[in-house]
Order: sequence, then C-alpha cells, then structure tokens
Amino acid sequence: MTKAVIETINLGKVHFSNFLRKRFQALDQLSLTVASGETFGLLGLNGAGKTTTIKLLLGLLRPTTGEVKVLGHDAGDVRALARIGFLPETPYFYSYLSAYEFLDFSGHLFAMPNKLRKDRSKELLELVGLTDAAKRPIGKFSKGMMQRLGIAQSLLNDPDLIFWDEPTSGLDPIGRRDVRTILHKLKEQGKTIFFNSHLLPDVSEVCDRIGILNRGKLIFQGKVSDITAGGNYLKLEDFFLSSIQEAEANYKKSNNSK
Ligand SMILES: Nc1ncnc2c1ncn2[C@@H]1O[C@H](COP(=O)(O)OP(=O)(O)O)[C@@H](O)[C@H]1O
Ligand SMILES: [Mg+2]
Repeated sequence: MTKAVIETINLGKVHFSNFLRKRFQALDQLSLTVASGETFGLLGLNGAGKTTTIKLLLGLLRPTTGEVKVLGHDAGDVRALARIGFLPETPYFYSYLSAYEFLDFSGHLFAMPNKLRKDRSKELLELVGLTDAAKRPIGKFSKGMMQRLGIAQSLLNDPDLIFWDEPTSGLDPIGRRDVRTILHKLKEQGKTIFFNSHLLPDVSEVCDRIGILNRGKLIFQGKVSDITAGGNYLKLEDFFLSSIQEAEANYKKSNNSK
C-alpha cells in the first residue's frame, strides 16, 4: 500500500461565535486518508466545512475531537510545514510590493539561499504566466492575477504536499485552464495535492479521488474514474447533486423527528 500523507480519524471542529457563545459543528467525524502522489478534491457547497478541514490539516485550527497526521507528524509541526505549500481561500498580499519582490520576500521567510530564491521566483512567475507583470505593484493586479501569484507563492519551497483552497475561483476560462495545466505538471512530479473546489469540470479532469462534504459530514469518498467513466464531468455533476439532495433529505427527516 502507498504511504498515507494525510490521515484523519474522527476529526471534528466546533466553532464558537462570540455572540451568545453559540456553537456550530463545522466538521463532524471526518475520517480520511490521502496517499502519496494522489490528487484529492474536497467538494461541497458553500459553508460545508472545506476551509475548516484545510485549516485543521495545516494546524491553523485546533481540532475539537479526533486525530490528524500530516506527512507523519501532528498537524502544524514545523517538519511537516517545511514540506507543505498552501494557497489560502483569500490570499493576502502587500499591495506596494511587485510580484517578484513578493516572491523574493516569501523566499526569505523560508530561509532560501539568495540564488535559489531568485531563480525559483523567476521560474514560478513564468509557470503562472506573470513574467510580464513581474515588476508591477500587486495593488494594481486583477483578482485572477493575484490568484496566480498565490499559486506561485504556494510552490516556492518545492513542497511535497500542496493545499489549495479554491484555486480556480475568480479565474477566467484561460486562467482556469492554466491552473489545470499546472496541476497536471505537479502530478507528474509526484506531488500530493489536496484542493477544495465546487467547480466540477476542474475536479473531474485532475482529481484521482474526491470527498463530498455536506453540513460538516463526509457523505462520500471514492475514485473519480468510478463516477465519470471516461472523464465526462456532467456525470460527476449529477452524482454530486444527487448525493447532496439525498443528504439534505435525510437531514430534514432527522430534524423533523426530533
Ligand atoms: N471562525 C469561525 N467562527 C464561527 N463559525 C465559523 C468560523 N469559520 C467557519 N465557520 C462556519 O463553519 C461553516 C463551515 O465554514 P467553511 O469551512 O469556511 O466552509 P466552506 O469552505 O466549505 O465554504 C460555515 O457555516 C461557517 O460560517
Ligand atoms: Mg471555503
């Protein structure tokens, strides 16, 4: 069996809102394994718990219940983080820096040596199609350009494991195609990729396996090829929508009987 890169057992997260200390179960009993070299897509409607899951895997949030191991370490362990790349849902940039300066600055944070930092920044700007905009301040970038820069930044340390939270959101069709091309390249390099999305054409093209979250519960995990048989994303869409409908019907039934 291939080595597990991500492993969670009964992972759960309750968010407490300050207002009236209301509790909200954002993730419930997630047991998930992602193998080395796999591309895994976590799907779900807005608010399903996808970002919460990524934050737990990165150690940015503490679990309320359950266990999580990433690259053989506890989530958030620096030995794991050194081998991880992360694109947040809403990346934050210093608007007065140029794209190149931002990557160079990020490389400093990874303590990358001078030459490697410069070479890698240039190479990644080329990969995401920002070479011509390298010297422009990020404050003047479109949403799509910022998303491309976020992707470049997530690859700076040549990570073995990549977390991307909605990588193709906000991108035009060419941007989305470029991201899929980058994903294919990373797959060929043997990277393990975990990404959140609700854009099913992108998911059906690049993912080996998917999980579907609904109201914090994993209602399905399995191989994309078992669902789409030949890569027709419409089959995945049908499967996704009927899985959600069924889960919602069960949710309403169990709430009515309470
Ligand atoms: N820090 C927080 N405090 C309270 N509730 C939160 C917090 N973060 C997320 N939530 C809630 O948890 C649920 C799941 O959110 P999230 O993981 O961001 O979903 P997704 O990424 O699938 O859209 C949502 O209902 C959201 O409002
Ligand atoms: Mg999210």
